[in-house]
Amino acid sequence: MKLSLDTANLDEIREAIGWGVLRGVTTNPSLIAKEAQDFLPLVKEICSLVDGDVSIETSSLDPDVLMRQGHDIAQIADNAVVKVAMSPGGLGATRKLAAEGIKVNITLVFSPAQAILAAEAGAYIVSPFLGRLDDIAVDGLQLLSQICEIYAVQGYDTQVLAASLRHPIHVVEAARMGADIGTMPFSVFKVLVKHPLTDAGYEKFLGDWEGAKAQLGELPPSMQEE
Ligand code: E4P
Repeated sequence: MKLSLDTANLDEIREAIGWGVLRGVTTNPSLIAKEAQDFLPLVKEICSLVDGDVSIETSSLDPDVLMRQGHDIAQIADNAVVKVAMSPGGLGATRKLAAEGIKVNITLVFSPAQAILAAEAGAYIVSPFLGRLDDIAVDGLQLLSQICEIYAVQGYDTQVLAASLRHPIHVVEAARMGADIGTMPFSVFKVLVKHPLTDAGYEKFLGDWEGAKAQLGELPPSMQEE
């Protein structure tokens, strides 16, 4: 499963890139608004930093407007993906944009039926929102499992992007179910690396090493540091 950040914050993106595991970024109008920066320079910078797909959202349900916005977003960079809300107009525009070779991420998907429509319209990515379903006491992981099963049975090429991930269990279960991409806020991304036994183990190794260093003879220069 490709790991993606759900953010428009450049510092977060740069830090995650340093970890060597970032394969994409998803943005949405709320995340863009939070940054309070000029839209085009911001999304261009994100696209140039990220080695992978960057989803940039449209702001209409009208198919003609969506076509124009889709063309503009696709011009931003080779890795820009046009994000379109699930709707009849969004599906129609997806079909036409896909026919032109433009990649579309159909977002705000909350049911298996919507996911079938997204794949049939030729979406490059479908984005089921797990956390927002959990918030209303509906099992988001169950939705993801149904979509992954349907897509495997039907042989759909559309990538399943598990979105609205709120904690590491969402991430792990999405990977187990076969989601192609998991997108999460930086707060969740940072929790993935943590384990108390890793921290305690490292402290013990380091203490033992420091204690024994004087008796270990000549060390490579890099191991004499610290
Ligand atoms: C995905 O593309 C969405 O931007 C995102 O995952 C929504 O997450 P939220 O429900 O935490 O806002």
